[in-house]
Amino acid sequence: MKNPKSLRLVALAFLFYLPLSLALLPAVCAAESSKFRDEFITNYKTFQFKAQEKLIKKSGDIMEDEIFSLIIDAMDDDLTVGQRLFLLDAASAMAHGYEHYHGGGKKFIKKIDKLIKKELEKEKARMAELLKWEGEERFIGNFVMDAHAEEMEKEGLAPVIYPHWIHRIWYECSVCHQEVFVMKRWRNEISREKILAGQQCGACHNGDIAFGADEKDKCGLCHVAGKPEGKRLHDLDHIDHKRIAEVATRVGAEWNADKLPDGRLPVDRYGFIDWLALKENGIFKPIESLHGDYKPVIRDNQILFISKGKLENVLFSHNVHSSWIRCTSCHPAVFGEGLDNKVKMVRMSKGENCGYCHGKVSFTFADCKRCHSQEKGTEVEGALVHVGQPKKRKKK
Ligand code: HEC
Ligand code: HEC
Ligand code: HEC
Ligand code: HEC
Ligand code: HEC
Ligand code: HEC
Repeated sequence: MKNPKSLRLVALAFLFYLPLSLALLPAVCAAESSKFRDEFITNYKTFQFKAQEKLIKKSGDIMEDEIFSLIIDAMDDDLTVGQRLFLLDAASAMAHGYEHYHGGGKKFIKKIDKLIKKELEKEKARMAELLKWEGEERFIGNFVMDAHAEEMEKEGLAPVIYPHWIHRIWYECSVCHQEVFVMKRWRNEISREKILAGQQCGACHNGDIAFGADEKDKCGLCHVAGKPEGKRLHDLDHIDHKRIAEVATRVGAEWNADKLPDGRLPVDRYGFIDWLALKENGIFKPIESLHGDYKPVIRDNQILFISKGKLENVLFSHNVHSSWIRCTSCHPAVFGEGLDNKVKMVRMSKGENCGYCHGKVSFTFADCKRCHSQEKGTEVEGALVHVGQPKKRKKK
């Protein structure tokens, strides 16, 4: 024990004046684990009851300090909920042991129980928040927008659903990215004021290209998250093909519903719209820009990623991607214009590299083979080879 007196003071403050002592926590969190704590936790983890009893019996004089300091360390901001609950459970066991063999543990037990209960409630609320829009956002590319939740609630309006998929039928990515929206969630600070000024959603939702955001009877078409009517935005059984075709004609896109297999949108194994099948079968042809003079710049090559794992190699088609997506949506925000970017699955799962779009707006990662499709050891004619960092791979 380094400085039991001051530790005890802080701990006392902690027990009785929680909010104040929380501010002091970082200073004491550095407290190192003690021999007693290490032994206690080892016994606790491995169910060594006999050894634990012996340890507690001989440690009566230091246990109050030990319990205090364990509680304090458990409340460290840097811990995960799981780590914190583990430490609090251990502290609770320590306090029960102290009460049983020496008396005087009751005050700790009560406090620890309260902390554990609070921690569990916080976790429950966090999970509920995460799952709140699960139905709406389950459909790839549907985003619930609720940055101004309070103002919307005040006017009796639900949060907004922005459905990428329905817009994609009429509009190529290049229409919105990057002219109307930066390709990153929450970065555009979308607000009613800007929309009514003809920016953001208001670039189209102005009563001319699409229903206006100022039309009193249309608010509910966008402010629809959590409402049963919202189903048409995340349930393929509720699609209004006639309306999609009408809008397509109006905006200058194509929607040939008659070519749909069984009259339904084709889906992949995961139940998400298969855009490539739609494209290949000539079912849709979105417009590329709101301005007539736009010409897409296509980079007509492919890049082979030689897989370092067991899976097959990955072929990235610059041609396919750049026919939909502007160079500036990927370069330089997602990839540097070279063959030596760091590309790794862990990065992708965090929304970098290919994960910038895949799993968010484009097909999911679960579909390994759609990317890992090129037999290992075989070359792809004409393809450039990704070299990666830091060691440059020799081109064979
Ligand atoms: C009609 C407009 C529109 C079209 C077309 C469009 N997007 Fe978006 N996109 C948005 C909006 C709105 C956001 C959210 C911006 C925000 O929250 O600030 C967004 C965000 C994104 C994001 C960020 C996701 C994240 O989690 O950060 C990606 C990736 C994206 N779009 C990809 C695409 C791709 C790929 C296409 C074409 C297949 C496309 N978008 C077509 C409007 C559009
Ligand atoms: C590039 C033009 C464009 C932009 C930008 C745009 N939309 Fe749309 N949106 C349309 C068109 C066209 C329709 C079809 C309107 C109709 O049915 O008459 C539409 C329809 C919708 C629908 C209704 C879908 C349905 O079938 O009920 C929602 C919801 C929607 N947009 C939300 C948004 C939101 C939210 C934004 C901004 C974050 C946005 N849109 C930005 C063009 C756009
Ligand atoms: C085209 C879709 C669309 C339509 C139609 C629409 N809104 Fe919104 N509205 C939005 C989006 C997107 C936001 C920003 C969401 C966020 O907070 O993340 C928003 C935000 C708001 C807010 C929050 C305040 C703020 O500054 O952003 C209010 C209030 C609001 N809308 C009222 C209305 C009313 C009233 C109507 C009908 C007259 C309406 N909206 C129609 C898309 C729409
Ligand atoms: C969907 C994202 C995406 C789009 C859109 C895109 N690129 Fe790329 N680009 C990549 C990736 C991925 C690489 C390879 C990175 C690596 O191997 O480290 C790359 C590599 C490059 C390279 C080096 C290899 C080569 O092809 O010579 C250049 C130059 C480049 N891009 C230019 C462009 C231009 C110009 C456009 C628009 C016509 C464009 N890119 C559109 C993702 C994209
Ligand atoms: C800026 C967004 C974006 C990025 C970044 C991106 N993709 Fe895509 N990708 C798309 C879109 C959009 C499609 C169309 C299919 C869909 O949306 O489900 C697509 C389709 C594909 C396809 C099927 C079409 C084909 O070429 O055969 C493959 C494979 C693919 N992507 C691989 C990759 C790989 C590998 C990377 C990273 C090196 C990557 N993508 C990065 C947006 C993106
Ligand atoms: C959107 C395209 C895409 C999808 C989907 C995808 N991968 Fe990858 N994966 C890549 C690319 C690109 C690389 C980089 C190749 C390299 O340099 O090793 C890669 C690399 C890997 C590696 C090598 C080690 C590493 O971490 O970079 C493994 C292992 C791997 N992927 C496994 C998987 C598995 C398992 C799945 C399905 C659950 C999957 N991948 C789905 C594109 C994809």
